[in-house]
Amino acid sequence: MKSKLAVFVIIGGVITFLSYTMYDISEHGGGMIKHFFTGGNPFEIFIHILIVTVLFGSLFTGYLINERKKLLERTVSSEEMLRKALSEWRSTFDSLPYGAILTDGDYNILRANTFIAKLAGMPVKDLVGKKCFEIVHKKDAPINGCPMHKARMTGKSETIEYYDDDHNRTFNFTVLPVSGEDEGLTFYVHLIGDISVAKEQEKKLKQNRDAFFNMLKDINETHKELREVHNDLIVAFANIIDAKSQWTKGHSIGVTTYAVAIAEEMGLGRDEVELLRLASLLHDIGKIGTYDVILDKPSSLTEEEYLLVKQHPIKGSDILSPIKGFESLLPIIRAHHERYDGTGYPDGLKGEQIPLLARILCVADSYDSMISDRPYRTACSKEFAISEFRRCSGSQFDPDVINVFLKLLQT
Ligand SMILES: [Fe+2]
Repeated sequence: MKSKLAVFVIIGGVITFLSYTMYDISEHGGGMIKHFFTGGNPFEIFIHILIVTVLFGSLFTGYLINERKKLLERTVSSEEMLRKALSEWRSTFDSLPYGAILTDGDYNILRANTFIAKLAGMPVKDLVGKKCFEIVHKKDAPINGCPMHKARMTGKSETIEYYDDDHNRTFNFTVLPVSGEDEGLTFYVHLIGDISVAKEQEKKLKQNRDAFFNMLKDINETHKELREVHNDLIVAFANIIDAKSQWTKGHSIGVTTYAVAIAEEMGLGRDEVELLRLASLLHDIGKIGTYDVILDKPSSLTEEEYLLVKQHPIKGSDILSPIKGFESLLPIIRAHHERYDGTGYPDGLKGEQIPLLARILCVADSYDSMISDRPYRTACSKEFAISEFRRCSGSQFDPDVINVFLKLLQT
């Protein structure tokens, strides 16, 4: 925008020049231009120079006035922008959801926002000049572990958590050193966040976690106790089975010992060994339904009696089938009298059709029976049992299982 003063000066200069020119034309007519440049006398020459100077001087002065006006306008605009920026910065600084303090290197507060003012209970202007530790910690000196003290030493950002007794709040303090415009001058920005809610949640989370772990521990204890009860019940069952006959006392426990030893020597997994242990303890549970007189008969069994005895693997499997979790025991118990060559009972399974655990159980069952007294014979020696295993390996028994068991018996 053109300055009005500049326009006035320029127009004034032009009018003065044109007025004199008109006067000169009226005085000298067509010889005006020659007269203007040559002049009549020294005074007229001075007037002519003055008129030209007025014309160009007014143009130049008008230009300078206009430029000054533009410069002033730009200055005013810059000041307004600066004021606006300052106002925005102040608003932002005050509306921060955490405390902000700027101090010099001697802990003196240079600026602080309204968060700090509310915390200290005094206006922002009264905070300026006070020591930061007086306002923040209500102390006469920096506290132990003061992040500003550390930041002064390290020249790096330092953070601590601080519990404020007065406000019953937990704050996170970060002090960040910043370089001033003058070289060697350092200021410190303090950022103070209220983390009470987060700390409370963390505390609750920790309590919940501890409670959860305690519950897991209780469950684990309960589970352990239940397993012990379960195991005791299985052993009691095994003892009941063995108690049916004076000849089979301790048989199930003995079979279990041998079967587990073979399985472990063969490198079977923990779950398979445990399954075999349970199957071994309960393998003759089907004999509960077999008459004692048949089991204790000192002479050879009749064909009908033998057929009844041969039912016990099926009966055992049927007895246990309603029990949830025992499903995997059933095929082992049902097959513990199968023979490797397929001539066993009740299903005539052959080779690897017979579950591996049943083949192991068969060997363990046979050994415990051979070295124990029976109503129809006295106990065999260990050496005799070994020779029988060698003779029947591949026919009655799985040769791989026999090899492992013979190795165990001979160590
Ligand atoms: Fe049996």
